[in-house]
Amino acid sequence: MGILFHKEEQLFQIITPNTEYCIKIVDQRYIGHVYYGRRLEDPRCGYLLRTAEPPFTPSVNQREKGGFMDSFPFEYPAWGVGDYRESCLNVRTEAGYRGCELVYEDYRILDEKPGLPGLPATFGKGQTLEIICKDPVIGLKVILCYSVFDDSDAIIRSVFLENLSQQPLYIEKVLSACLDMDAEEFDLLTLNGAWGRERCIEQNPLSYGKHGISSVRGESSHQEHPFLAVMERRGHQDQGQVYAMNFVYSGNFLAQAEKSQFNSLRMVMGIHPEGFEWMLEPGKTFASPEAVCVYSDQGLGKMSRIFHDLYRNHLIRSPYLHTKRPILINNWEATYFDFDSEKLIAIAKEAKKSGIEMLVMDDGWFGNRNNDDSSLGDWQVNEEKLKGGLKALTDSVRAEGLLFGIWFEPEMISPDSRLYKSHPDWALKLPGREGTLIRAQYVLDLSRPEVVDYAYESVASILRSCDISYVKWDMNRQLTDVGSIYLDSARQGECFHRYVLGVYQLQERLIQEFPDLLLENCSGGGARFDPGMLYYSPQIWCSDDMDPVERLSIQEGTALIYPLGTIGAHVCDCPNHTTGRTTPFTTRGHVALAGTFGYELDITSISKEDREQIPEQIRLYHKYQPLIREGDYYRIGSWRETKKYDCWQVVSKDQKEALVTYVQVLTEPNYRSRKLYLKGLNPKAEYRLEIEDQKALKKRADEKNGNVARRLLESDGQVYSGRLLMQGGFLIQRLEGDFQSLLFHFVQV
Ligand code: GLA
Repeated sequence: MGILFHKEEQLFQIITPNTEYCIKIVDQRYIGHVYYGRRLEDPRCGYLLRTAEPPFTPSVNQREKGGFMDSFPFEYPAWGVGDYRESCLNVRTEAGYRGCELVYEDYRILDEKPGLPGLPATFGKGQTLEIICKDPVIGLKVILCYSVFDDSDAIIRSVFLENLSQQPLYIEKVLSACLDMDAEEFDLLTLNGAWGRERCIEQNPLSYGKHGISSVRGESSHQEHPFLAVMERRGHQDQGQVYAMNFVYSGNFLAQAEKSQFNSLRMVMGIHPEGFEWMLEPGKTFASPEAVCVYSDQGLGKMSRIFHDLYRNHLIRSPYLHTKRPILINNWEATYFDFDSEKLIAIAKEAKKSGIEMLVMDDGWFGNRNNDDSSLGDWQVNEEKLKGGLKALTDSVRAEGLLFGIWFEPEMISPDSRLYKSHPDWALKLPGREGTLIRAQYVLDLSRPEVVDYAYESVASILRSCDISYVKWDMNRQLTDVGSIYLDSARQGECFHRYVLGVYQLQERLIQEFPDLLLENCSGGGARFDPGMLYYSPQIWCSDDMDPVERLSIQEGTALIYPLGTIGAHVCDCPNHTTGRTTPFTTRGHVALAGTFGYELDITSISKEDREQIPEQIRLYHKYQPLIREGDYYRIGSWRETKKYDCWQVVSKDQKEALVTYVQVLTEPNYRSRKLYLKGLNPKAEYRLEIEDQKALKKRADEKNGNVARRLLESDGQVYSGRLLMQGGFLIQRLEGDFQSLLFHFVQV
């Protein structure tokens, strides 16, 4: 394991526990991609670069250099000198010329994984390869960084630029990673969505041309996600080669796969070049955000587990990462803006009786915010609603025995606010244009240090004033009119990126000053659910759509990359406020258990029958949360594909227990039991089945058509071998009615 350089072969080998990545220097100049896949451990692999085939390298065939440039698998392709595929780098000089050619100069192998200034970055015990190259004509130094950790199959990529010239250079495009290889018969996988249906998996055959997803909305977005994978055409959850990239960044991105004339495939990922330009002054440096590359030879399931472990072990810093998070109740869908201290205390009292541990006060507690038209930026408590102020409320909630959490949207400013009246220029604006409103709000110009300070103090002063354990940090609109009067004309193209750096700075300050705070990021639901934000908060609100049926696809797509413990999920009211669907309380609980778990309903007014189920759901949370948070995730059936049911499984790292969640979305007439093949168990071990929700099942068993419930109860305690459950399968009876779900716990005996 580790990073090696073979001088004779001019070959770098980056070796992880199960994968290998090889790079070769050709003509002492060009940096080419040789191999990425299962471990090869043979430095003679350099011939795979095909430099012995026409058009040959420029040193032996200078007259056809163009042909070489347009077919060579560059590790980091630059724009303008003959490579017409998607480039990673485009630079303009002071004189206005564009074009860049990188020449290999040197390398360093570091026994560490350095951080990135001002940016989220993976960390831990590892090694880093720095390949140093230069464009001597324009005086640009470029360092390509590849980091690996001892316990992970991911490779972390980033790029550093340094201006060695005497004049400014204008960086028009700087992506973070490129993967240039042969295009096999691949499918392209992306995550697409909208508000209320984030990160749904999309899979299509990869054809010729450029297939990209991106965001130019200033955030990673509801619509497309900074993730891209190609999978062998016949691959699936457990089989097939997969190459994936995920971007550790929360702003504009471009992710693209391009199949070109020679049947080669180039995958790239980085900051979207549209609206981006960075003026690099002489002697200055620029660091790109990180892109994570993962190769799996065992399908999507293994890819997901590599991402999950990487993020749990090397990205999320919160002290809550490995601890049980307090079970919260949030008042948003319970009251919306219509609440006061009395109502909140009534919710807290009732919640406490059921075992809930924290009350979260959502939007509407400040300024004159009685609807979403006003007051963002005026972070002073509305004492008409909260009589006696915030401290009185937090003290009362604490006296009820609950922790207290609060909602903020610190990056925003309402035109109808005191803040806007005194600082209209603090909003992002283009001179002479009226800014485009979204949800009646503008975005603060976080490229300005004094605006960052104001936003920080708005949050921090409240946190300093009372006993607050949790913050939900929201961001409810995309960026438009991205201009800043703070930046001079040559720097307007930096505004998008500086905004993201401002957000990161704010959250970094927050977690430094309040190290015990549980921070949950949110963006109109899940529009900023990305690895960048996970560096600051251990959990992110996944979607405003809490309907458990919709959540099956949303959470499946999210869990394709992110550990279940990061996925903000609540038991919602019924009928659901987004879809109007009526679902059983049990199913809402089971689906929320595959995330952070909490409640978002008016506990004082839901039916007694539902309320009485809460203590049992909370028992399940306490019992299974460590397994769900730390275990290995396996997808057994996907509602998106089966059209009938959904099923996932979490297995403890020591394979001693597994939890299977089964949701029968639609009842089917006339079928026998369904066979599910479990995964990840120890084939030689014996497992005893424990069926959960027995109280409810017993009640159903006593009813007239209670056969299924009776049979389920009879199977409780049965013992199966791991091999039998995985190879033979496990039978699930047809349940009575749509949207029913079951939890099966297998414990090694
Ligand atoms: C966003 C969030 C919701 C809620 C509202 C409040 O939509 O995703 O959970 O906090 O804002 O305005």
